[in-house]
Amino acid sequence: MTPTILNDATAPAVQKEHASGSFDAVKVREDFPILTQRVHGKPLVYLDSAASTQKPRAVLDTMQRFYAEQYSNVHRGVHQLSQVATDLYEDARRTVQRFINAEREEEIIFVRGTTEAINLVAQTFGRRELGTGDEVVVSAMEHHANIVPWQMICQERGAVLRVIPMNDHGELDLDAYADLLGPRTKIVAVTHVSNALGSINPVREMIRIAHERDIPVLVDGAQSAQHLPIDVRQLDCDFFTLSGHKMYGPTGIGVLYGKKALLDRMPPYQGGGDMILSVTFEKTTYNEVPFKFEAGTPDIAGAIGFAAALTYLRSFDIHEILAHEKDVLQYATETLSGIDALRIVGTAEEKASVLSFTLCAIHPHDIGTILDQHGIAIRAGHHCAQPVMQRFGIPATARASFAMYNTREDVDRLAEGIEQVLEVFT
Ligand code: ALA
Repeated sequence: MTPTILNDATAPAVQKEHASGSFDAVKVREDFPILTQRVHGKPLVYLDSAASTQKPRAVLDTMQRFYAEQYSNVHRGVHQLSQVATDLYEDARRTVQRFINAEREEEIIFVRGTTEAINLVAQTFGRRELGTGDEVVVSAMEHHANIVPWQMICQERGAVLRVIPMNDHGELDLDAYADLLGPRTKIVAVTHVSNALGSINPVREMIRIAHERDIPVLVDGAQSAQHLPIDVRQLDCDFFTLSGHKMYGPTGIGVLYGKKALLDRMPPYQGGGDMILSVTFEKTTYNEVPFKFEAGTPDIAGAIGFAAALTYLRSFDIHEILAHEKDVLQYATETLSGIDALRIVGTAEEKASVLSFTLCAIHPHDIGTILDQHGIAIRAGHHCAQPVMQRFGIPATARASFAMYNTREDVDRLAEGIEQVLEVFT
């Protein structure tokens, strides 16, 4: 099952091809060359997709072809290759636009990933809007990337970070959220899906509540866009962030979506080539969005590879992917709940593809190391979400995370591996 990567004009034909049958994860695995590997002599079970997903051959081939046959810098050349590269790069922008249903292609800004996207908003929108005593609202389950940039700008501007609390299941308290919003709130920045707990937050409702008070909302989509259909116009979010490497694309590329009216008002983030219209030693005039925010040579191959990943994803019915991933998560939750010594951390009603757990007093790093000996890749630690660990009174968790290529068999291997860990430690 290796879909041909076509440009966007022909993508609907591919979509039809895959959407016609029911989703088959075993066949999908054939598209991901790395998954056939053995690790420590055992077939690889890759359960670390929340950290980074593996890449389908379609992405690898597209990037190889770009470097081998189409490569040049963009936007500055009159020669053939530069025009080809520019077309591919700008096509990639339109592919992202369509993927998240943004109204305009200028609303798609290529950045390194979600971390850079949030820093961009904090350093531009934040620096302009925040003053002494103003407030930024984040949630108790944020990744450090959606805490630290806000702390930095709050410190600089004399503003205050306010935190939406969560319950013991890992669900946000929406009443407390509404109470937190006030005349000093300048922005809400909230994750769509928690990387540490898997909770899916009701961001549409949260945006509605914020907009009633004219407060813009940034949604961190790093952990959601590979699992859930994303429609930024339906959500009505003001900013949305994507990380390509968590969506089957390459590392080093991501997207900041922003409503054009907001982006137009924001000052540039970094200075350099491409973001200017004219420069003299006395004065510089800035380019229009999105180029105003894309100083320097961008990650051209990354953007094109990312677009190939999105075209690959679009060749399936996202609802079928969602149903499959739900099934694997539910099966994993039931299977691991049967292990007495295991405690699942993050039991929200609405969850996506993340299963964090502790196992008696065994350190998650030991769990991860022993599982690795059995060819099973999980992540152990605080998952760049130390406040989440503090909220649950634990230093770390072991985390299995799933993607479209995982199966119930992977879960069975994980459960066997956990039994082996228990044998070693008890
Ligand atoms: N943010 C990534 C994770 O959750 C690295 O693992």
